[in-house]
Amino acid sequence: MEKQIKKVDELLDKTKGFSAQQILQFTYSEFSGRIIFASSLGEEDQVLTDMISKIQPEIEIFTLDTGRLFAQTYELIAKTQKRYPMKFSIYYPQTEAVEKMVQDKGINLFYESVENRKLCCGIRKVEPLQRALKNVDAWITGLRRAQSITRSALKPFEWDEQNHRIKINPLADWSLTQVEQYIKENKVDVNPLHKEGFRSIGCAPCTRAIKSGEDIRAGRWWWEQPEQKECGLHTRLKSK
Ligand code: ADX
Ligand code: SF4
Repeated sequence: MEKQIKKVDELLDKTKGFSAQQILQFTYSEFSGRIIFASSLGEEDQVLTDMISKIQPEIEIFTLDTGRLFAQTYELIAKTQKRYPMKFSIYYPQTEAVEKMVQDKGINLFYESVENRKLCCGIRKVEPLQRALKNVDAWITGLRRAQSITRSALKPFEWDEQNHRIKINPLADWSLTQVEQYIKENKVDVNPLHKEGFRSIGCAPCTRAIKSGEDIRAGRWWWEQPEQKECGLHTRLKSK
């Protein structure tokens, strides 16, 4: 792991002062194409999709369809696939694992305990993520530092210990205002739910609208403590 941490530190040094676009360009050449972008169709992800289409359309995109997404998210997937030229794959959970979980614990098991919620996220997101990352050395995400307390130490490059891959967060330093400005200037398609108070959007039963002044991720797993609100895609963040 020492070696990987050193590599991340080198990447951070080499890209000091780089814009998000420069990071995308630099990483595509640095990883010789063995890189992929994970999109949940959130605002940040839509910004990255638009940037990738303009500067590095060779980068492929994937979404993890948990089977519990909002209808509006499915519509946005279709719209995005139509608008942009990049290869866009969709990964699904293993049917038998979902069937067993629902049989044993019920369809809405996640409301009952953190353990159940993590089991559901594990089956519906984390395992498919591992398959999506199988042939790459690095993955790009739309994470931003300002999104939550669990992300306050986020850097543009990190060693993702869980997946043994380098994680690249080109928008790590961006504010919400920057995201909104890019969307406006580039006429980026976004989920209509954002206008209804859904800032951070995940699965339908685990996402609700927030009130003004509330934390941006307050509507995700709202019945849990803020420190527990990571689904397993982004745990154990490591950097310099
Ligand atoms: S989550 O871990 O709480 O669900 P969040 O919704 O904030 O994460 O998204 C952070 C980043 O994780 C996104 O910008 C995207 O890169 C990745 N991500 C989250 N959910 C998905 C998904 N369903 N499919 C693909 N990538 C995802
Ligand atoms: Fe299951 Fe909710 Fe996690 Fe989606 S966010 S995978 S529905 S627990």
